Amino acid sequence: MEKIIIVGGSVLRGKVRPSGSKNSALPIMAASLLSTEPIILHHVPRLVDIETMAQVMDVLGAKVEWTGDHDLRIDPVGLSSYEAPYDLVRRMRASIYVLGPLVARLKKAKVSLPGGCSFGPRPVDLHLKGIEALGGKVSLEHGYIMVNADELVGAKMNLAGASGPSRGASSNVMMAASLAEGVTVINGAAQEPELVQLQEFINSMGGKVSGAGSDKLTVEGVSQLKGSEFEIMDDYIEAGTYLVAGAMAGEMVAVEGDFSANLKPVLASLEETGARLEVGEGKVTVHGNPRPTAVNITTAPYPGFPTDMQAQMMAYLCRGRGSSVIRDTIYPDRFNHAQELLRLGADIVREDGSAIINGVEELSGAYLMASDLRASAALILAGLVARGETHVRRIYHIDRGYERIEEKLGQLGAEIRRVEEE
Ligand code: UD1
Repeated sequence: MEKIIIVGGSVLRGKVRPSGSKNSALPIMAASLLSTEPIILHHVPRLVDIETMAQVMDVLGAKVEWTGDHDLRIDPVGLSSYEAPYDLVRRMRASIYVLGPLVARLKKAKVSLPGGCSFGPRPVDLHLKGIEALGGKVSLEHGYIMVNADELVGAKMNLAGASGPSRGASSNVMMAASLAEGVTVINGAAQEPELVQLQEFINSMGGKVSGAGSDKLTVEGVSQLKGSEFEIMDDYIEAGTYLVAGAMAGEMVAVEGDFSANLKPVLASLEETGARLEVGEGKVTVHGNPRPTAVNITTAPYPGFPTDMQAQMMAYLCRGRGSSVIRDTIYPDRFNHAQELLRLGADIVREDGSAIINGVEELSGAYLMASDLRASAALILAGLVARGETHVRRIYHIDRGYERIEEKLGQLGAEIRRVEEE
C-alpha cells in the first residue's frame, strides 16, 4: 500500500490546472450506453473511479478504451448484459448510474445495491421512485435492485427527498426518460453543473432534455440516440481544493480553468476568511492567508456550499483566528477527517451534524489515516502547513478523485512524495 509524505512549511506559488470532472464524467460514461453508436469523450480524468466505471461497462458488453491521455472511446454496440455485479458496485457507488441506461435500452436491469459509505447511509429510494414512475417494476432481491419494464412511459414526478434533491437520482431518471415514450417532468431535481453537462451530452446524441440547472427537468423521449463527441468540464471541486491549498500555504497560486461560476459559495467563504482572490478570465488567483478569520459554513445542495469541499475548508480553518462552525446538512456524519486533524494538534469539537473548529496557532506533523476521498485531500492540505512530516496512509482513496495530486502540489512548490509503505 502507498502513502503520501508531506514536509510542511513550503510556500506554494505558480499555476495549476484541474483535470476533467470525475462527477461529470461518470454519469456521462454511463449515458453513453443509451446510444447505439460510438461516443468519444475528451478531458476525462485518469482516476481509479473512471477505471471502475469502464469495468462496469465492460461487463455489460460495451467497449471502453483510452485513445489519448484523456480521451475515451466508448462503443456501446455490444451492450447485452443487464447485470452490474456486487463486486464492482461495492467499489464505487456511482456504478448505480448504469441503472437508468440499462432500463432504457434493455427494459431490464439487475444492479447491486451500493450500500452505505464511511460517512453514513446513502439510500437509493429516489432512484427507484423515479424508475417506477416511468413504469419500471422494481424489486429488491438478494442485495440487488431488479427492474423489469414492458415499456417506459414519460411521467410527472417529484424527486426531492428529505435531505434535498439527489444528483444521482435526477441523473438516472433523466437518462431513462430520454428513451421513454412521451414527456417526463422531474420536479425537485438536483441543480448541479453535472446535471447541465449530462443534459448537454444527451442532447448532443439527439436527445431532448431541458431545464437542467433549475429544479425542474423536462425530458421528451426519443426513439434512438446516436454517436457524439463531447468535452467533460473542469473539476470544480479539484479546483476548489487547490484554491484552499493556495490560501493556506501559498504566496500567489493561480488555478486555471473554467470553474469559477460553479464554485461561488466556496469563493465567497474564502473571501470571508480574508483570503484575497482575483477572479479572471479562465483562472482564479488566490493570495496566501495562513491565519484565516473564523467563518461558519453550512453545506447545502447546489447552489449552496458543496459537502465535497467541507473537509478541505476544515483543514484551513484549523489555524483560524477564532472559532468556526461547519455544519453538513447533506451528510451529517461526514466528519471522519476531524479526528485525524486532532492528531496534528487541531482543536475540533464534534456535535450532532456539525464540528466546531477552534483555531490554533500551529499544527505539527503526524501519522494520519485517510478515510474517504475528500478527507484524504483535507489531510494532505493540513500536512502542507503542519510543522515537520505528515504521513497520510490509505491513500488509495485520493486516487479515486484526484489525478496526480502529489505532482500538482509538487509543481507549486510543496515538498510531497508518494512512497510504498514499509
Ligand atoms: C453526489 C456526488 C458526491 C457528493 C454528493 C452530494 C457523484 C458521483 N457523487 O453523490 O461526491 O458528495 O453528490 O453532493 O456525483 N438521497 C436519498 N435518497 C436517494 C438518493 C440520495 O435520500 O435515493 C440523499 C443522500 O443520502 C444525500 C442527498 O440525498 O443526503 C444527496 O445525495 P445525492 O445527490 O444522491 O448524492 P450522490 O449522487 O450519491
